[in-house]
Amino acid sequence: MKVTLSVIKADIGSLVGHHVVHPEQIRVASEKLKKAKEAGLLIDYHVTNVGDDLQLIMTHAKGIDSEEVHGLAWDTFTEVTEKVSKKLKLYAAGQDLLATAFSGNLKGMGPGIAEAEFEERISEPVIVFMADKTEPGAWNLPLYKIFADPFNTAGLVIDESLHEGFTFRVMDVYEDKVVDLHAPEELYDLLALIGTTGRYVIQSVFRRKDSLLAAVASTARLSLIAGKYVGKDDPVMFIRAQHGLPAVGEVLETFAFPHLVAGWMRGSHNGPLMPVSIKYAKCTRFDGPPRVGSLGFQLNEGKLVGPEDMFDDPAFDRAREIANKAADYIRRHGPFMPARLGPEEMEYTTLKIVLKKLESRFRLTR
Ligand code: F6R
Ligand code: MG
Ligand code: MG
Repeated sequence: MKVTLSVIKADIGSLVGHHVVHPEQIRVASEKLKKAKEAGLLIDYHVTNVGDDLQLIMTHAKGIDSEEVHGLAWDTFTEVTEKVSKKLKLYAAGQDLLATAFSGNLKGMGPGIAEAEFEERISEPVIVFMADKTEPGAWNLPLYKIFADPFNTAGLVIDESLHEGFTFRVMDVYEDKVVDLHAPEELYDLLALIGTTGRYVIQSVFRRKDSLLAAVASTARLSLIAGKYVGKDDPVMFIRAQHGLPAVGEVLETFAFPHLVAGWMRGSHNGPLMPVSIKYAKCTRFDGPPRVGSLGFQLNEGKLVGPEDMFDDPAFDRAREIANKAADYIRRHGPFMPARLGPEEMEYTTLKIVLKKLESRFRLTR
């Protein structure tokens, strides 16, 4: 059967600053999705959070960009904002709801979306990744390692069915354009783009031999939509695994290295992406360090069997320890680059205002 998996998220206010979603927000959102399931719009759903982002994981048969499903997500976010975030005076209530009203599709309206329609395989393991205090480019390195690096993914060498490689659809988030690049033969071109994580973002990955969809990520950049800093985009993605795709363990392996990502305090700093269980998916130190949580499901005729909390495992303790060491190290740079992001990334923050203020005081040196 064909199933659509829609992971839609938004930061619509949180408990103690930008720390964590309030349980009441999860309760009200779950209630809303429960009704949609009873009414037959959704096949199944799971509501969770990573840090201050409320995550709606939904399956249905309506295809991508469905007005009904996107409308349901929008209504859920607005209802939770009104009934809970505002009522409890949670911090930054309704923050990511940039549009004033829903207009058929969530694109460009604030919430992040990773969504795809696909034929459910005989057995369909899917892993949803959700990050807080970072941006969509944070997925570039892990997606590259999972689908193109044999040092991470043994199957690229050992499993005949992965041998032809994968196609990466890369989006230029400034120009709203995409380009398909084929691994392994275009690896260097691919890396030349996706190393620029603030601009070139992997949107999806396909298996080359049959174009089977392997991964989908959210690509919206709130600052580019709003023209100013409105919080980092805190991206989501999901990856299908096993049986001719990277194994679950190969997908998770890349997160044993807590790579540096843009985000953290005020969306303006580089910091390590720390893999954590959902229990610890709440940012503290310097509003971070940036975190990634991960839930695994088996799809069963669209039903979400699970979830399994994939980073709830001592096997990732060392990654967390390295992340804490990296956090100590980079924090000591304070407001200096490369701890603070470069000027092109600071364009949507106060840097612009500071420059404007000083404009008349800048003198030529000769
Ligand atoms: C980062 C983030 C936080 C805030 C910071 C300041 O994505 O959301 O680090 O930028 O806490 O928040 P305000 O300006 O709301 O006090
Ligand atoms: Mg927030
Ligand atoms: Mg967030």
